[in-house]
Amino acid sequence: MTKSSPTFILNYCIFLIAVGITGCSEKSAEETRPPLKAESHSPASLEEATPKPVVVTEKTRETYQWYCAQCHGIQGKGDGINARFLTVPPRNHTKAKYLETRTDEQFFEAIKFGGLSVGRAPCMPAWGNTLSDSTIHELVLYIRELCQCEAL
Ligand code: HEC
Repeated sequence: MTKSSPTFILNYCIFLIAVGITGCSEKSAEETRPPLKAESHSPASLEEATPKPVVVTEKTRETYQWYCAQCHGIQGKGDGINARFLTVPPRNHTKAKYLETRTDEQFFEAIKFGGLSVGRAPCMPAWGNTLSDSTIHELVLYIRELCQCEAL
């Protein structure tokens, strides 16, 4: 009994150390998890870095109704409720004959910086502080959809 007791204690200590080591290794395995998680995020951030193709969504149409329709009209025909109060009539976004003489960059500039920036009337407001560049790109595409016409 007196002999087995120190052996038992020694064995118990080894057991504790072993548990301790396993415990530690488990912990360190957990510690390596966050970088793994970050790695799993990296393909997503890569996707974010690649420019998304511009598409007209329901949100784009809503944006047009919200910010543009009061002048350009619900269907984009230039007959919004404010149209008659403007000295220069809002552009009819369904009129291909004129719109195909303009580039998409001109549309983008007109929307972002206002009519004046593309040599048009200042009553076409600037939306650069309200709408993001990607939303403006979508609106340009939406206008191309309305006019069923190609850019110059
Ligand atoms: C306050 C009225 C008003 C609002 C609101 C408005 N526009 Fe206009 N917009 C005009 C007028 C007026 C013109 C015509 C300017 C001209 O022909 O000189 C115009 C012209 C344009 C043109 C054509 C520019 C060109 O090359 O002739 C585009 C594109 C355009 N608007 C897009 C938009 C979009 C997109 C919105 C909404 C985010 C919007 N507009 C909101 C009044 C408005």
